[in-house]
Amino acid sequence: MSILTILFVLLISTAAEAQRRSSNIALGSSLTPSSNSTWYSPSGVYAFGFFPQHVNSYAVGIFLPDKTVVWTANRDSNPTVPDNVVSLLLSTDGRLILRRRQGQDVEVISPSTTIASASMLDNGNFVLYDSESRIIWQSFDHPTNTLLPGQQLPSGKELFSSASETDYGRGIFRLKMQNDGNLVQYPINTPDTGPYSYYNSVTYGAGGNVSLNIDSDGRLYLLNGSLLLQNISSGRFPTQGSINLMRLDVGGIFGIYSLSLGNLAMTRRWASTVDECAPKGFCGVNSFCTLMDNEPECLCLPSFVYVQSGNNTAGCSRNFLTQGCHIIDDRFKYDMRRVENSEWEDNSYENLNIMSEEECSKACLDDCNCEAAFFNDNQCKKQKLPLRFGRRSIGNSNIALVRVSRTTDMGDSDRKRMIKKERHIDLLIVGIVLTSVGVLALSISAILAHKRRKDYNRIKKDDGANFVEGISLQAFTFEHISEATRGFKEEVGRGASGTVFKGVLRNDQKMVAVKRLEKEFTQGEREFQTELKTIGKMYHRNLVRLLGYCLDGAHKLLVFEYMSNGSLADILFNQQKRLSWEERMKIARDISRGILYLHQECETQIVHCDIKPQNILMDGNWCAKISDFGLAKLLKQDQTNTYTGIRGTKGYVAPEWYQKQAITVKADVYSFGVMLLEIICCRKCVDWNRSEDEAILEEWVYDCYATGKIGSVVGDEMVEERKVERMVKIGIWCVQYDPSLRPTMKKVLLMLEGTVEIPIPPNPSSFLSSI
Ligand SMILES: *[C@@H]1O[C@H](CO)[C@@H](O)[C@H](O)[C@H]1NC(C)=O
Ligand SMILES: *[C@@H]1O[C@H](CO)[C@@H](O)[C@H](O)[C@H]1NC(C)=O
Ligand SMILES: *[C@@H]1O[C@H](CO)[C@@H](O)[C@H](O)[C@H]1NC(C)=O
Ligand SMILES: *[C@@H]1O[C@H](CO)[C@@H](O)[C@H](O)[C@H]1NC(C)=O
Ligand SMILES: *[C@@H]1O[C@H](CO)[C@@H](O)[C@H](O)[C@H]1NC(C)=O
Repeated sequence: MSILTILFVLLISTAAEAQRRSSNIALGSSLTPSSNSTWYSPSGVYAFGFFPQHVNSYAVGIFLPDKTVVWTANRDSNPTVPDNVVSLLLSTDGRLILRRRQGQDVEVISPSTTIASASMLDNGNFVLYDSESRIIWQSFDHPTNTLLPGQQLPSGKELFSSASETDYGRGIFRLKMQNDGNLVQYPINTPDTGPYSYYNSVTYGAGGNVSLNIDSDGRLYLLNGSLLLQNISSGRFPTQGSINLMRLDVGGIFGIYSLSLGNLAMTRRWASTVDECAPKGFCGVNSFCTLMDNEPECLCLPSFVYVQSGNNTAGCSRNFLTQGCHIIDDRFKYDMRRVENSEWEDNSYENLNIMSEEECSKACLDDCNCEAAFFNDNQCKKQKLPLRFGRRSIGNSNIALVRVSRTTDMGDSDRKRMIKKERHIDLLIVGIVLTSVGVLALSISAILAHKRRKDYNRIKKDDGANFVEGISLQAFTFEHISEATRGFKEEVGRGASGTVFKGVLRNDQKMVAVKRLEKEFTQGEREFQTELKTIGKMYHRNLVRLLGYCLDGAHKLLVFEYMSNGSLADILFNQQKRLSWEERMKIARDISRGILYLHQECETQIVHCDIKPQNILMDGNWCAKISDFGLAKLLKQDQTNTYTGIRGTKGYVAPEWYQKQAITVKADVYSFGVMLLEIICCRKCVDWNRSEDEAILEEWVYDCYATGKIGSVVGDEMVEERKVERMVKIGIWCVQYDPSLRPTMKKVLLMLEGTVEIPIPPNPSSFLSSI
């Protein structure tokens, strides 16, 4: 071997060594969420891979050994990947993709050219290279909520907070390195202007090449080009055995954190402010932030209630209804209440020079469009709801005045609110009757004038609603739906509340299911629309989506997404083709997630009241979705906690319906339990073709369980008895006679997923036999 050859071999091997070090992930490599496999940086500190997000879902990103996530992929579109994802793959054709068991591959990162290799670097930067080892994409250029030492936030870029400590999707605060050289914090969806900012570095005017930088000791500073412009945090935190990073927190404050690699403890070393009420929008609409013992608290405006129980930051809504500019004289029904020292976004539509607070109150009361007013410095600024970015700070002389109903006492419960609503409708009806009588007596011109005013009111009202909610339920004309369903030709289902037809929308050829409501409605159009909007806002993969509606005289139609694989009842009770145990259990988990959302996770709690296999529909991918949710609310105002007649379906109905007891979410848990037993056994809950011992499913299953013959509930099917027993136990817990013994839906889901122990259930009707 010549010297030259040896040299050549040496050269090649060192090059290969360098190659391996700088690009440690080769084409063809893959990761799966369940195996805990990740792509580590050479030091093992940073890892790229799946991390858990929500229940049974995963997101892809970069994280530290304590699982602190420092970067998240596809954060804005869909950060979570459901459990049917098989792998994250750096494919041999040079793409970084999520490969699903069924369906399309999804690109995780989309660089402009084909990837030749990838590398998780020791500084926490994930880098993609082309075939000439040029960097074509790096995570440092796409920060989410974190800056790592050496990473830069260049001019024009911004960081966004995460939605919550466990949800790394985009949250509600941002930190922007502005082109004018100023580093500024705002809530999301606001213009980059002074009134919306809640932090700034006061470096305005330093020019268009200012960047935010962090050193390994946690020093945070602004550079103008390459010259130091300003220190923000002085740093000097230990670097030995720890990592210092900067993060924009969920609560809107940015800080320096140190992770000790020894005990994996994360400590906050420095924060941009200690005032946790400072971030504008920390409290939701119509509420204001106030510090109590240095802890931020969100309080509702007077006569307002939290929209989401258990989550005071989600905002507040009125506990009474207003009619806006209505024919009934408002002056005697309303009053103004005040919140001193409070600061809000100023969206005034009228600004008056007025000497006293009393006059300002009166000016607002006299103007039916005025829902609140700010009085400060002899200025009276009339406002519409919602009020945003509220906070109380001593030293702020602004007084917020809010219109309240005289008849509503403070701190009303929901039930009282319901009664108020009804009373209000009565008033409305009286009003309408009176007007009609008046109209009869009047001339034609008066009728026309009245009509014009009504139209005007309607337009105003809709404007307001859109501003508040900004949801996109489509309103269809009857002609449009009639055409889509070809004159209601193809009936696909029929239930207590109406008949369902298949249709195809003209504009986008989307298949839809149209439900024609056939029941009497006790409520007015306005309430109906309010409820519709509530339903329209619900979005969950295990709920059938409401796309639009039609209110056209006597016609009340709801338009839903179309579910091509029919109902669970069709599948479950079809003896020809039995779904496998695993498929059935997945369906049970899907349904429980949908119910959990209705009970706990959406803005207004919804008790479905009619959970049964006929109301579970299967989409094209065999994902189970709940239908007819919210109909209980649409059809009957007062369903939440008073007895108003049985709404559910025999066999699935919880005993409290018959007892004239309060109906709560536990009624749905009962119905779910019955259905779970049906899913386990693939038979109906009541079947008189069987022997008397077996006819009532719950009783039979409990007998089998209690006598140790658990295997017989699945007949000939080959399933591990241990698995069957678990599921049967959950079912028995759900159908307990006493609602308080039934688990919450959250608990049910945890049990279904196998993450918690399931205690031995008592006999569901033991309570009965002891009476
Ligand atoms: C994954 O990691 C977690 C915690 O580190 C551990 O509890 C679990 O058993 C691991 N799973 C697998 C499949 O290795
Ligand atoms: C920032 O740098 C630019 C160009 O180098 C210079 O014109 C400007 O004066 C600097 N601004 C400050 C505040 O130092
Ligand atoms: C901005 O500053 C960087 C140094 O941090 C420099 O490399 C770059 O050329 C500057 N850009 C402009 C447009 O001045
Ligand atoms: C910024 O901080 C660094 C390191 O702590 C220090 O050396 C420097 O003097 C500081 N500069 C200013 C302008 O405060
Ligand atoms: C509370 O509500 C807000 C706004 O809807 C939401 O961003 C946040 O995640 C909720 N927090 C909890 C703990 O549910």
